[in-house]
Amino acid sequence: MMKNNGITILAIESSCDDTSAAIIRDGVVLSNCIANQEAHRQYGGVVPEVASRAHQANMIPVVELALKKAGIAKTDINAVAFTRGPGLMGSLIVGTSFAKAFALSRNLPLIEVNHMQAHVLAHFAEDSKPKFPFLCLTVSGGHTQIVLVRDYLDMEIIGETLDDAAGEAFDKSGKLLGLGYPAGPLIDKLAREGQAHFPFPEPAVPDLNFSFSGLKTSILYFLKKEVAENQNFIAENLADLCASVQTSIVTILLKKLRKAARQTGIREIAIAGGVSANSGLRKALEEMGKQEGWATYIPAFQYCTDNAGMIGVTAYYKYLAGEFCGQDAAPYAR
Ligand code: KG4
Ligand code: ZN
Repeated sequence: MMKNNGITILAIESSCDDTSAAIIRDGVVLSNCIANQEAHRQYGGVVPEVASRAHQANMIPVVELALKKAGIAKTDINAVAFTRGPGLMGSLIVGTSFAKAFALSRNLPLIEVNHMQAHVLAHFAEDSKPKFPFLCLTVSGGHTQIVLVRDYLDMEIIGETLDDAAGEAFDKSGKLLGLGYPAGPLIDKLAREGQAHFPFPEPAVPDLNFSFSGLKTSILYFLKKEVAENQNFIAENLADLCASVQTSIVTILLKKLRKAARQTGIREIAIAGGVSANSGLRKALEEMGKQEGWATYIPAFQYCTDNAGMIGVTAYYKYLAGEFCGQDAAPYAR
């Protein structure tokens, strides 16, 4: 173990469509800056080529801002961390190349970070930290996992989706309802005004795994049938449809999380990833936590969706463990 005195890390995240830079000192996030790419909205999804170009344009300004907000000079930085994967290859290459160039020019050690591990460790950027071992339901646009977390750098995926991710289920359902991209936050907002009375079937999936592709199909057929009878069906029932979609997804997620908690006997339960920003999921988790006697951990909004703060926090624990990488560390998409 290295000595913990004044370790300052510059962290870079560019796995999808958010360009983010953060400064972390001794595991504490001093700044966490994000440049969102609005350009994708007009296409109804993330366009990889557009994302890479925007990362290239946003990277330097975001890094400068993160340094300024943290009150840190480039010369104060002890290590550079970056998201190595999973993510979009073109997007990852921009962040990886920037981190490598920065580290090389200042002769600093490099730390590669797994994006999904970072979503879990985002909880350690907060005052209220889960105790090991804990379970983390990591739900994002690309992943849905139940992770058994034994220690900072010792995690095991004990359940995951066999097809679509939970965020994808939100986004694809929203598309069927005519909502813009990403639909998750829009469904969340509209669902608050609605009643979840439209029944969408729950898939029968073995073990601790998930499936969301059937839900999307049943929504599609349900809407086709209803719209054939009433052209304005979606507009007239939008809030109730959103509430029903959200409740279906949240129910699927929480039933498997409860199964995992009962199987493992673990009562420290966390959620992470973009979908953990969902107010229905946050509320339902707290309710289930009370029934099941769990201590529940829900990240602040800034640590739910993609951000470099979580990359820096993960990098801090890797730094303490002496886990560095070379200039040859290539990004990986999956
Ligand atoms: O973790 P994240 O920012 O990026 C990935 O690593 O994928 O997650 C993005 C996903 C999108 O599918 C988005 O619709 C969803 O998280 N999301 C939400 C909410 N905020 C973001 N889904 C439901 N309710 C929300 N409030
Ligand atoms: Zn993510």
